[in-house]
Amino acid sequence: MEVIAFAAVVAALLPFGTAAPTAAASWPPGRNCTRRCGKIDIPYPFGIEPGCYHAAGFHLKCRDGWPRHGPPELFLGDGTVQVLEISVPHATVRIKSRRVEFADDGVAHGLTVNGTWGAGIPQDGTYFLSERYSMLRATGCDIEVDVRGGKGNKLIASCSAICPSLPTASNDESAYLVGDGSCAGIRCCQANIDIGYSFYNIQINSLDKSNNTAMMPGKTDSVYIVDRNFSYTEDIWFREPEAAVPATLAWIIASNLTCPKNSSASECLSANSSCLDAENGFSTRGYLCGCDAGYEGNPYVRDGCKGK
Ligand SMILES: *[C@@H]1O[C@H](CO)[C@@H](O)[C@H](O)[C@H]1NC(C)=O
Ligand SMILES: *[C@@H]1O[C@H](CO)[C@@H](O)[C@H](O)[C@H]1NC(C)=O
Ligand SMILES: *[C@@H]1O[C@H](CO)[C@@H](O)[C@H](O)[C@H]1NC(C)=O
Ligand SMILES: *[C@@H]1O[C@H](CO)[C@@H](O)[C@H](O)[C@H]1NC(C)=O
Ligand SMILES: *[C@@H]1O[C@H](CO)[C@@H](O)[C@H](O)[C@H]1NC(C)=O
Ligand SMILES: *[C@@H]1O[C@H](CO)[C@@H](O)[C@H](O)[C@H]1NC(C)=O
Ligand SMILES: *[C@@H]1O[C@H](CO)[C@@H](O)[C@H](O)[C@H]1NC(C)=O
Repeated sequence: MEVIAFAAVVAALLPFGTAAPTAAASWPPGRNCTRRCGKIDIPYPFGIEPGCYHAAGFHLKCRDGWPRHGPPELFLGDGTVQVLEISVPHATVRIKSRRVEFADDGVAHGLTVNGTWGAGIPQDGTYFLSERYSMLRATGCDIEVDVRGGKGNKLIASCSAICPSLPTASNDESAYLVGDGSCAGIRCCQANIDIGYSFYNIQINSLDKSNNTAMMPGKTDSVYIVDRNFSYTEDIWFREPEAAVPATLAWIIASNLTCPKNSSASECLSANSSCLDAENGFSTRGYLCGCDAGYEGNPYVRDGCKGK
């Protein structure tokens, strides 16, 4: 009730002509479910109002953007992680992935600092980082970045970036090699994250044990989990780091059961759909629904799969 009331407030505050949340194709039948937030479609099993989503992990919030009365924005669960796009066929959600914040700038003094990624993502087994679409990317000088996760906090990904200085050592930044703009170990590094979890511990270790970082004015270390296809250039000397970049989560119907042997799962409601065991996730278990070959659409709703 609270959320419905809030959606109404958002609509009331919007100027005419702005895309407002609308109650369109409803699920379950007989209820009015918001199926759009701004420009973003909200297909079932996702939903906003009680009764409009499949399980707690699929509960979203749509609210006024920033600055005040900006276009509505969509969020996961507790409202800290913004949703950019939902795909049922790919079973993915693109989110705004916040830059990893570190406790302090101890790296500048040759120390190790810790940070985390995943705050605000429901930790109920619904979501995990898409190994296929996302990766680790870091910019900085003389740093090694380690990504750990899962039971035992095991090392999952790591990369290093150095900033070699030219023999004419000086405080002038031009004394440092600039690199060719590729993210290949000079001022920038990247690595695949091949085990998808919904939460990671991230550590930056200083490779420069000399504790002489005064040589690098304005040095900024930035660590992101980001879409592989997102291109940006980070100027570590002059530019403020991005606060957030897109990253992609995979989602599943979390369950300790796999697909029933010779019947479809109850969630796979559409004709011409089947249950598929979730292939990865490691920390999570469950399944997905898919439209059968020759059909496309939303297998989670009645008559959702349509002939191509
Ligand atoms: C759905 O919304 C319409 C228009 O706001 C209203 O007339 C109808 O009674 C609602 N139906 C239900 C089941 O709430
Ligand atoms: C590096 O220097 C800073 C301040 O000069 C000091 O606080 C820090 O303990 C030093 N770190 C190491 C590893 O020596
Ligand atoms: C950082 O994390 C590592 C391993 O996860 C831990 O051993 C270390 O104590 C942590 N350091 C700080 C400063 O919290
Ligand atoms: C990256 O891929 C996603 C789909 O996975 C797409 O929506 C997005 O537009 C792509 N971004 C770029 C910059 O190509
Ligand atoms: C699934 O696992 C949870 C906790 O591990 C357990 O409480 C529950 O009974 C299990 N459900 C089924 C259907 O096995
Ligand atoms: C499930 O499949 C088995 C053999 O594959 C068959 O004997 C059984 O009758 C089937 N059950 C249902 C409910 O269709
Ligand atoms: C799709 O579903 C309809 C209705 O259940 C069925 O008649 C039809 O044979 C199915 N098509 C295929 C290719 O299985």
